[in-house]
Amino acid sequence: MTDVAARATAGFRAAHGTEPTGRWAAPGRVNLIGEHTDYNDGFVLPFALPLRTVAAAGPQDGERWTVSSELSDSAVSFDAGDLASPGRVTDWAAYVAGVVWSLREAGHRVPGARIAIASDVPLGSGLSSSAALEAAVLAALVDLGGLDLPADRQPRLAQRAENDYVGAPTGIMDQSAVIRCRAGHALFLDCRDESIEHIPFDLDAAGLAVLVIDSRAPHRHADGEYASRRASCERAASRLGVPALRDVAVADLDDALARLDDDETRRRVRHVVTEDQRVLDTVELLRAGRVREIGPLLTESHISMRDDFEITVPEIDTAVEAALAAGALGARMTGGGFGGCVLALVDADRADAVAAAVTSAYAERGFAAPGTLTVLPAAGATRLD
Ligand code: GLA
Repeated sequence: MTDVAARATAGFRAAHGTEPTGRWAAPGRVNLIGEHTDYNDGFVLPFALPLRTVAAAGPQDGERWTVSSELSDSAVSFDAGDLASPGRVTDWAAYVAGVVWSLREAGHRVPGARIAIASDVPLGSGLSSSAALEAAVLAALVDLGGLDLPADRQPRLAQRAENDYVGAPTGIMDQSAVIRCRAGHALFLDCRDESIEHIPFDLDAAGLAVLVIDSRAPHRHADGEYASRRASCERAASRLGVPALRDVAVADLDDALARLDDDETRRRVRHVVTEDQRVLDTVELLRAGRVREIGPLLTESHISMRDDFEITVPEIDTAVEAALAAGALGARMTGGGFGGCVLALVDADRADAVAAAVTSAYAERGFAAPGTLTVLPAAGATRLD
């Protein structure tokens, strides 16, 4: 397949009969560790993928936006009036309209634009294809309009598009990752104040690789389950009298659990509080260059998601177990759950063997074959030309 940027340009020419002014790219992401901690004001450690979404864009007169995508037969056009009627723009184009809406809500004068989208980020695999789309479009509109919106303020705005326009109650991790990540680093983000630290994650130097395994598991009620996990964390925080579960220290966990009256809520809280600590421990090890040693933390995170937060599915657990049995140093589901991807930290020369072991474990259980890919930490959203 041709390069994603060339496909975006070709799409722009085909849809609009002219050359784009420029092209802007934003990556997908995986989360190394820190799951369902972002909306609890906690810590996350994602990194950007080399797979990218590209928006080729140019101006259009008036307050009108026309968007085409290589995945869709026809372009979608909307104007300022359409944005005022929720639900007028649907499907993939809603993420684009959401970004325009969110910019306008924040008081920016958004230039009319024509945009063509091409992407290498697989859809529905939990690799943040939606955040990549939002970030690529946002970068294009900010540049085309000369808007005063530095990168550190862009994630909230993109998140708002997703939360309030599209209607998905997600946290700040994905948009932060795809906008703020740096190549060769993981992004240590404090989701309360949005402070960041780029943590070196030099896999090559350590002789390691991250294998991303797409479980290909059909998403099972993922949206409703995500919202219910979030609601139960918020209820627990309010019962414990803290602003968010981030405010429960690991040292106080037993006391906090004793004050909760049902076992399910206790398990949810235990996941979030211990997961925040695992992020901090992972960051410490990476700062000290002890990359191999993060493996057990990744696996503990998985067990916590499986047993306490209850967001894994059989395909995901099979991938983790098979990767570990084949010698992975650690493995965990990454992303919101109920399907999506697993990441495994492996010795670079074992990556193929681990991928083959997962594929054969899938075949034994009769699951559709997984996708596998080794990745290095890439850069966040950027203008290409
Ligand atoms: C999804 C959401 C994120 C985060 C993760 C779970 O990816 O978009 O905000 O909550 O799930 O860590």
